[in-house]
Amino acid sequence: MSKQIQSSRVTVPEIAARKGKAKLVCLTAYTAPMAALLDPHVDLMLVGDSVGMVMHGLPCTVGVTLDMMILHGKAVMRGATHALVVVDLPFGSYERSAAQAHESAVRVMQETGCQAIKVEAGEGVPETIAFLVQRGIPVIGHVGLRPQASNVDGRFKTKGRSLAERERVLAEAKAVDEAGAFAIVVEGVASDLAVEVTRLVGAPTIGIGASPECDGQILVTDDMLGLFDWTPKFVRRYANMRELVGKAVEAYAADVKGGTFPGSAEIYTLRAK
Ligand code: KIV
Repeated sequence: MSKQIQSSRVTVPEIAARKGKAKLVCLTAYTAPMAALLDPHVDLMLVGDSVGMVMHGLPCTVGVTLDMMILHGKAVMRGATHALVVVDLPFGSYERSAAQAHESAVRVMQETGCQAIKVEAGEGVPETIAFLVQRGIPVIGHVGLRPQASNVDGRFKTKGRSLAERERVLAEAKAVDEAGAFAIVVEGVASDLAVEVTRLVGAPTIGIGASPECDGQILVTDDMLGLFDWTPKFVRRYANMRELVGKAVEAYAADVKGGTFPGSAEIYTLRAK
């Protein structure tokens, strides 16, 4: 007789039900040890395609591949046992057609075991979201500043400062909501626009550079831990890991050069028989 394994992970319906209720706590994760550290504190962990910039030194997210997302998705699933894990579909893996998106999403979900995927909501994407949702794939939509489209603007550009742009972001959010996305990431928009989007849609909004009135917040973990010398205006730094790591490595280098590492407690000796 097969034994049903009960998972204690946060579920998609639980996230969807948080609209207007307790704020959703979300962070990005790319590795198993970091996922394990974040897990007790967050509702949702995103294996974001920001992994390309944060961990692989890419200038933007366009170079990220499906194989990279799957590798990091698997690692995060090994580290996290509580949070809902969502994996980004990277640039080029879903925009051509709903069938292409379905193939990519199925691969990601089967190979990583994650519970949902996220897509940036450009032209034609709401139709793709509906296609995926109808086939049992939970989807988060991403509106406002869409990093995968950064080459169009030539940089990461805040959205919603002109009337036309505001209308576009509102229309995108509405379409993503109607397509059945269970949550919507709202990135890099004027704060009053984020509030308007939050009121307009039925799905919970997850803000990043948006508004405290969103239904939840997400940050790139490495940004909030201060692993970089530069962080965007919307990031609050909760630690200065860059300084900590720098000091630790400086001390290690001094010990190695001075011959004080390894010390007697840090070496193996033959055991007497
Ligand atoms: O890739 C990512 O990390 C993201 C978040 C910034 C929302 O999409």
